[in-house]
Amino acid sequence: MSFNSQIITLNDGNKIPQVGLGTWQNKNSEATIDSVYQAIKIGYRHIDTAAIYGNEEEVGVGIKKAIDEGIVKREDLFVTTKLWGTQQRLSQQAIKQSLERLQLEYVDLYLIHWPVALKSRTIDPSDPKNYLCIPMNPDNESARDVDVNWTFVDTYLALQHLKKEGLAKSIGVSNFSINNLKELFKHPLFKIKPVVNQVEIHPLLPQDELIAFCKEHDIVCEAYSPLGSTSSPILTNETLVSIAEKLKIDVAQVCISWAVQRGYVVLPKSSQVERIERNFNNLAKLSDEDFATVSALKEKYGEKRFVKPDFTPFKVFE
Ligand SMILES: NC(=O)c1ccc[n+]([C@@H]2O[C@H](COP(=O)([O-])OP(=O)(O)OC[C@H]3O[C@@H](n4cnc5c(N)ncnc54)[C@H](OP(=O)(O)O)[C@@H]3O)[C@@H](O)[C@H]2O)c1
Repeated sequence: MSFNSQIITLNDGNKIPQVGLGTWQNKNSEATIDSVYQAIKIGYRHIDTAAIYGNEEEVGVGIKKAIDEGIVKREDLFVTTKLWGTQQRLSQQAIKQSLERLQLEYVDLYLIHWPVALKSRTIDPSDPKNYLCIPMNPDNESARDVDVNWTFVDTYLALQHLKKEGLAKSIGVSNFSINNLKELFKHPLFKIKPVVNQVEIHPLLPQDELIAFCKEHDIVCEAYSPLGSTSSPILTNETLVSIAEKLKIDVAQVCISWAVQRGYVVLPKSSQVERIERNFNNLAKLSDEDFATVSALKEKYGEKRFVKPDFTPFKVFE
């Protein structure tokens, strides 16, 4: 099996393609539809979206187009979406709405997007504000309006039922720290282990400790922002540029290859078909020396986290 098509078996027996397409910040509808459709044509079998991205409809149309044209069967695709904070008290309603927007009967993976519930701004379930809203704290402009009377443990216990109902084949978490996972594990009604923890991982944030903890508990990490997200300084990093030039690939593909070699799921996003293609087809096995150089990048340039929303008073990152 080639480097870009490796499959990882999850702790519930389901299988996840290691390289998936990210879709965050893909807003323009036609471009989003096309990026998903073209990615599937290129060979991607794993698509990552979320209710808050506001593009589940477009992702669904791109998937449907590929299925209708016989490029792929539904059962050969792995589709992930995520529960937004304003709907943590309403996860069953939220997943049903996501499935309707995606035109799917089930998702392969449903994640709690962040371990923090947010206050809903509407009581009308059909109002997009129900899932497409980042409520800000009226007393602290930089922070989100956290629902302190609800916990991620409450939410996760409800997610266990969504798996039993078949609405999600697997369930997992995102942006969970080691302490959050420990808190979840100790609840008496905790029965189904999360299959993944989707977190920011790239050469400037290698997350060794979190990855090791998850591995010990048979939870696969998924690397989001593996290129350092939008306008990333990683893509112009001189050390990575020299490795990329030597291998005749882009820095992005050095980062993706490094992630594949480290053994977890990686979710590069691009809205440009040429990049989507290169990010899948131009992966290369790094030599031991290059692998070690990329792994030591944080030592040379300092640790950097790019996605860090303020959920005060909840501390997401420890
Ligand atoms: N769970 C969470 O909280 C969470 C948070 C963040 C992200 N995610 C998921 O992870 C995915 C990836 O993260 P991300 O979108 O933050 O960032 P990313 O994949 O690290 O980087 C995306 C950026 O890199 C550019 N890019 C892609 N391929 C390139 C290439 N070959 N050469 C040069 N530039 C390239 C893209 O531009 P173009 O699009 O113009 O090509 C875009 O600006 C998201 O889309 C989402 O699905 C999840």
